Amino acid sequence: MAALGEVRAAERRLDGRLHPTPLLTCRGLDRLAGRRLLFKCELFQRTGSFKIRGALNAVRSLVEESQGAGKELPRAVVTHSSGNHGQALACAAQAEGIPAYVVVPRTAPRCKQDAIRAYGATLVPCEPSDESRAETAARVVQETGGVMVHPNQEPAVIAGQGTIALEVLEQAPEINAVVVPVGGGGMIAGIAVAIKALRPDVKVFAAEPRNADDCYQSKVRGELTPNLHPPDTIADAVKSSIGPTTWPIIRDLVDDVLTVSEEEIKRATRLVWERMKLLIEPTAGVGVAAVLSERFQAVPREVENVCVVLCGGNVDLSSLTWLTDLPGKAE
Ligand SMILES: Cc1ncc(COP(=O)(O)O)c(C=O)c1O
Repeated sequence: MAALGEVRAAERRLDGRLHPTPLLTCRGLDRLAGRRLLFKCELFQRTGSFKIRGALNAVRSLVEESQGAGKELPRAVVTHSSGNHGQALACAAQAEGIPAYVVVPRTAPRCKQDAIRAYGATLVPCEPSDESRAETAARVVQETGGVMVHPNQEPAVIAGQGTIALEVLEQAPEINAVVVPVGGGGMIAGIAVAIKALRPDVKVFAAEPRNADDCYQSKVRGELTPNLHPPDTIADAVKSSIGPTTWPIIRDLVDDVLTVSEEEIKRATRLVWERMKLLIEPTAGVGVAAVLSERFQAVPREVENVCVVLCGGNVDLSSLTWLTDLPGKAE
């Protein structure tokens, strides 16, 4: 299992390579949630999401390993991604002069696909299922002789994502809980490892679309239970299932999983745009929807200061027709 030491090592490796992201507050949203919310603005992170933390940590680790062993740099790095990890890996690899190949479900938002190409990576389309992503990436690894950097099961990626927690604890030591959207679980695993090592009193909540609730199902059953079908959710970045590396960490360290409906995700996303003027992507709206949900109302009042990770801001603006489908006002 990943350990705090690896997250600390990632922090040192990433030093000076990231944007410092603020913790913002919003009284209007506090009133709706009935608690003080602190929004960790990873939408302002390089490449528009937290994903650069894990990707840079992985690529820098590979570079350090090659240099330490007096070997050449990897011939290529390969991954599969709904878009944000692909952009992040492409950006990190470009900085080191390493070719990147990114397998992307053909349904991934156009803006994310364009950004991957803009960072100089080769895009390889696949079907929108966990199996197709994994099979296509394995084929590309064989063909290119590249190194696979898994978007959420790779330990260096998990450790990099954990640096979010180190920053949040410095920025707001008063937090009582952190709410984290979960796809493959790399972000929540890294955060949980750091939080529970440093501040076991701080609760770690996963937030998940009800239409992609493999993390919830896994916790309920006590065994890894991937999504049976490709999920249908507006939160495109959390369609993938948790996996063999992140599951034991989630099982042991995550306090609870909150699931939210598509309508809740849309309303929460719109609310953040309108009230906070922050262009979050719907996946970030999953965490906001979770703290506004009825279920979260049942969390004891002592959990007063709640950090919500606004994990990304890569919105496909051409896809906003859903906004006009919403009846009435945002809240
Ligand atoms: C914006 C955003 N939020 C959350 C996630 C979920 O992260 P993880 O797969 O590490 O659980 C992703 C993953 O792609 C993402 O891009």
